[in-house]
Amino acid sequence: MMDHSPLIDTPLTRALGIDVPLICGAMYPCSNPELIATVSEAGGIGIVQPISLTYVYGHDFREGLRRIRELTDKPIGMNVLTEKSSERYLDRMRRWLDIAVEEGVRFFVSSLGDPRWIVESVEGVGGLVYHDVTERRWAQKAIDSGVHGLIAVNSRAGGHAGALSPEALLDEIGDLGLPVACAGGVGDAAGFARALSMGYVGVQAGTRFIATTECASPEEYKRAVVEAGEEDIVLTHRLTAVPVAVINNERVKREGTEVPWLARRLLANARTKHWIRAFYSLKSVLGLKKAATGKMSPTDYFQAGKSVAGVDAIENAGDIVRRWAEETGSQKSSDIPGQPL
Ligand SMILES: Cc1cc2nc3c(=O)[nH]c(=O)nc-3n(C[C@H](O)[C@H](O)[C@H](O)COP(=O)(O)O)c2cc1C
Repeated sequence: MMDHSPLIDTPLTRALGIDVPLICGAMYPCSNPELIATVSEAGGIGIVQPISLTYVYGHDFREGLRRIRELTDKPIGMNVLTEKSSERYLDRMRRWLDIAVEEGVRFFVSSLGDPRWIVESVEGVGGLVYHDVTERRWAQKAIDSGVHGLIAVNSRAGGHAGALSPEALLDEIGDLGLPVACAGGVGDAAGFARALSMGYVGVQAGTRFIATTECASPEEYKRAVVEAGEEDIVLTHRLTAVPVAVINNERVKREGTEVPWLARRLLANARTKHWIRAFYSLKSVLGLKKAATGKMSPTDYFQAGKSVAGVDAIENAGDIVRRWAEETGSQKSSDIPGQPL
């Protein structure tokens, strides 16, 4: 992308023209402009979540990107969600992608669905697409669609978690010839250093960045992330009809983690499953908005991954990027213990 000698030199930092191979992953509803800009300004890269930017924070998409640009001129990325949904939704996503390209965004993190149209839309301007994958089958499909890198979403991730450990997933997709970043379970500098020493080109972290001063989420949410331990994280189907990592609070304990019987039947039926998924997606988009702008209580869902284990304070997001970079730079990879993240 540009001639650049990064502070931590990996294929990711070189390709993106950034200093620290740390991606602040897209988060619905937690990706607010200030958080994205702070991570990018500190040398990592913040990812815009278009529905957060427009629906939650109320920006027109282009104006929202320009708001971030007022805060930093460093590279930012965009999350493009391509799951099979309505044509109207996909049209809107295509328009947002074109606007992002016009506004100078050159890094795209795609999740769900086939990323081919994203690659085709951005390649002409030198854009790079990294696709979120949880197993080799999806990684191979994404490669066939022309992506430039993979983000390996493991079983410790916040959001929609995968099934494999960080080690097993890298073993499974590390030989496919593309750079692989690690998503899931990295909540502190030691975990960041270990992921790099395992051979990942970078880390995409979400949960850690919720408990920051720049994140617009309510204090109760940030404190819950700080206070939770790894054992407090469970996967629930009730939020989006596919497993999502949440803190096991009063609500989750009361209602369990499975969808009700009727929804289960509709999900098992090929004809009705898309409708019921769309219903759950809409319900979660509306229900989760509070986790960015409202007041939260134990009757709400608190999305977070097992990386809560590494989070022990609400901190400045830029300090996190700088400290993780410093601590990694000061360790030789041979000093980094090969324990799980
Ligand atoms: C609250 C929350 C919301 C998320 N929303 C999205 C999203 O909208 N799109 C997406 O691609 N990933 C989403 N993710 C996944 C993150 O981008 C990232 O891959 C993940 O958080 C990494 O795991 P970690 O939480 O252990 O750091 C979300 C994660 C969290 C915690």
